[in-house]
Amino acid sequence: MSALLEVSELRVSFGALVAVDDVSFTVPTGAIMGLIGPNGAGKTTTIDALCGFLPAAVGSIRLGGVALDGLRAHQRARAGLGRTFQTVELFDDLSVRENLLVAAIRPRWWSPFVDAVAPRRGTRGVNVDDAMGLMGLDAVADARPTELSHGQRQLVGVARALATRPRLVLLDEPAAGLDPAETAVLGRLLASLPAAGVSVLLVDHDMNLMLGVCDQLTVLDFGRVIASGPTAAVRTDPAVIAAYLGGGA
Ligand SMILES: Nc1ncnc2c1ncn2[C@@H]1O[C@H](COP(=O)(O)OP(=O)(O)O)[C@@H](O)[C@H]1O
Ligand SMILES: [Mg+2]
Repeated sequence: MSALLEVSELRVSFGALVAVDDVSFTVPTGAIMGLIGPNGAGKTTTIDALCGFLPAAVGSIRLGGVALDGLRAHQRARAGLGRTFQTVELFDDLSVRENLLVAAIRPRWWSPFVDAVAPRRGTRGVNVDDAMGLMGLDAVADARPTELSHGQRQLVGVARALATRPRLVLLDEPAAGLDPAETAVLGRLLASLPAAGVSVLLVDHDMNLMLGVCDQLTVLDFGRVIASGPTAAVRTDPAVIAAYLGGGA
């Protein structure tokens, strides 16, 4: 298994608070890596730092062997990092497909020329229709977000991240507010992503979902990694049970 994402000694401080404290972990190519830990453990801050939303973060981040350090958020997105946000904000007067198209378009003044000369350039990974299909949204492609259930809107949030053609998608609590049946559907859809060429870093509190779909887990506690590796090993790690799993969280 080759490493897709290599995070090394990532550190984020907010004033005196060290929210992410020398965090290191690796996401293998084709893996679904779960990032778990109690509220305030630093999961969202880690995602923000990986995506370049926290320029004060220190440490080193490589994607496919290429250093992302110093790159801005849009440059990291272009390098292949997609993400969702903990709160899904959609354009309510656009259709589902149009919401994805807005995310997928990367306007450049030279784009029409490149498209004319090399139309296949920049078509790595999934396109908008693939993204909708992967999240089971074909039937609602022309619907407005306001016509969808909360569960479907969460899926649109994931599909929109996929439409940016990521190699790795970072999902922040995509099962928030979903009922068990909707969560099971989400889990099956997420499990299909590696076969479509998209690796996943998944943050969620639902341990059924996490243990069901993650082949790797990294556990954060007070901003520090207390375990990282294959799910079967991490879930039985005494430190993890004591800090997190044992508490019924
Ligand atoms: N913008 C910010 N300013 C100050 N403190 C923050 C900020 N964002 C997060 N924190 C703090 O950093 C810690 C980690 O937060 P967060 O990454 O959101 O945790 P999680 O996503 O694991 O629940 C918490 O103590 C939180 O209060
Ligand atoms: Mg969070």
